[in-house]
Amino acid sequence: MGDVEDLKREAGIRACQFVQDGMRLGLGTGSTVRYTILEIGRLVSEDGFKVVGVPTSEATRELAESVGIPLIPISEAGRLDLTIDGADEFDPRFSLIKGGGGALTREKEVALLSDSMIVVADDRKKVEVLGEFDLPIEVKSRHWSDVSTAISSMCEVRVSLRGGELAPYTTDNGGYILDCEFGPTITKPGDLEEKLLSIEGVVQVGLFVGLCDAVVMATGSGVETIVNPVGRLS
Ligand code: A5P
Repeated sequence: MGDVEDLKREAGIRACQFVQDGMRLGLGTGSTVRYTILEIGRLVSEDGFKVVGVPTSEATRELAESVGIPLIPISEAGRLDLTIDGADEFDPRFSLIKGGGGALTREKEVALLSDSMIVVADDRKKVEVLGEFDLPIEVKSRHWSDVSTAISSMCEVRVSLRGGELAPYTTDNGGYILDCEFGPTITKPGDLEEKLLSIEGVVQVGLFVGLCDAVVMATGSGVETIVNPVGRLS
């Protein structure tokens, strides 16, 4: 197993120190939180934890079911105690870019229902300014071309349809993803999110602002938990 995979596993498992018996959990999507979900499955099967999960994607639903985590749909969730999810980037203010795996819309819905959110990541995801990773935006499939034009003229950025026109990537909601090349320029993610959400046809924007309470980050020299000083866990 490569070094990066080891880091993902360490971060993913360490985040389970925040999981308590009886919790209602949002279960994120991606290759790092996958290890968290496997560990929660172990807590259920070996340690007798009684938790329920709300998956943020079909892939996570299948994984969680395969390890025996009881699940409920988001429509029945009400409030959740904690969501654990991955991220593509996080900045010093704990703002995130998410959606590399295409699940940003459900990920944000679940995060918004949660009393706290922990991100699991390796140190490649830590940035000073968001945007080196192309910002994913979910759009209604029939509007993708108009939305693409609107974003590129509003923000002067290059926009690509994920998967290309011949075989566009389709989300669990039947939407498409536009990946937007801002470069490391997103200094006001809340303002940008609001601007992009105002474009007709945009379903969700992969900027998560004011939602992340801590990052469990694996580095070559160990796992560090960085708590947001103005978050809900401090
Ligand atoms: C899924 O849509 C994403 O938001 C992921 O959480 C994010 O891309 C991080 O995934 P990895 O842990 O696989 O890098």
